[in-house]
Amino acid sequence: MKNKLNKIARDTNLFLIRFLTKQKKTDLIKPMKYGLLPGGKKIRSKLIVDIGKIFKIKYQILIQIGAAVECIHAYSLIHDDLPCMDNDSLRRGKLSTHKKFGESTAILAGNSLLTIAFEILSHKNFKIDSKTKTKLVNLISKCSGHSGIAGGQYSDLNFERKKIPLKKIIEMQIKKTGKLFSFCCMAPVLVSKKYNYLKKFDKIGSDIGLLFQIADDLIDYSGSTKKAGKKTRKDLKKGKATLIGLLGKKNTIKYVNKLKLTVFKKLNIFGNKSEDLRNTVNYILERSK
Ligand code: IPE
Ligand code: IPE
Ligand code: MG
Ligand code: MG
Ligand code: MG
Repeated sequence: MKNKLNKIARDTNLFLIRFLTKQKKTDLIKPMKYGLLPGGKKIRSKLIVDIGKIFKIKYQILIQIGAAVECIHAYSLIHDDLPCMDNDSLRRGKLSTHKKFGESTAILAGNSLLTIAFEILSHKNFKIDSKTKTKLVNLISKCSGHSGIAGGQYSDLNFERKKIPLKKIIEMQIKKTGKLFSFCCMAPVLVSKKYNYLKKFDKIGSDIGLLFQIADDLIDYSGSTKKAGKKTRKDLKKGKATLIGLLGKKNTIKYVNKLKLTVFKKLNIFGNKSEDLRNTVNYILERSK
């Protein structure tokens, strides 16, 4: 699993470096690269490759979609760390982008990473038909804006220090994290044109995204800063609405294990072809232990 993940991370970064090298040279390229390239696990790209395998999509197509997703993800992290949001100074084992380059630069580098994702997906060198390109751009837009990442981040901040019921916490986590995972799971289906699978992979994506966020919350609760590459034990201090805060650690682990079984059940029909995907889900949970 680790070897496969590392290869995908390398290939994604290689694509991104080449893409950025072909851009006009501007002062924002350096902070953009800083927030994008080093240290990220590229787990979203891995999911795209895993599902692409089920639908027999060409590896390089999947890497290009993953590169776009990683740009949006990096933008969301740069903004997430800003003083007006989570106010974190450490990310991927280094100073967060605003600490290194200043707040205004971090905001603008984040904006530019968001828009470059659309550039990657609509690019003439992206060798898929234009109807599918439009579908991908349309879906990734929806997953990133007010009904996805941005909307979820709004709720995450708005819920701080309030008593929030389970259903609302889950809704918030699905938006801030799950929607982009849904995109990752649906993108290979869109490329394959097997549209009758879309709904199924939308749900699998939001389930895995929720599972991923709960694992991240567990890492914050009891993981080490060194291993996580970011300050841990902060969610409690900030009064973040999490399952751990509401149910306690033990019940949260029970919840997340049940969620995993729900996902695996949905994958049963794909048999061996979904093995890589199951390994990725197991890896996500193992990291939080
Ligand atoms: C962290 O995401 C933010 C969440 C959505 C929980 P990752 O853990 O995927 O961050 P990197 O890309 O590996 O640094
Ligand atoms: C971030 O969630 C989710 C995003 C969409 C950026 P967190 O705030 O828990 O992520 P970390 O722990 O800072 O990486
Ligand atoms: Mg946050
Ligand atoms: Mg944060
Ligand atoms: Mg976190």
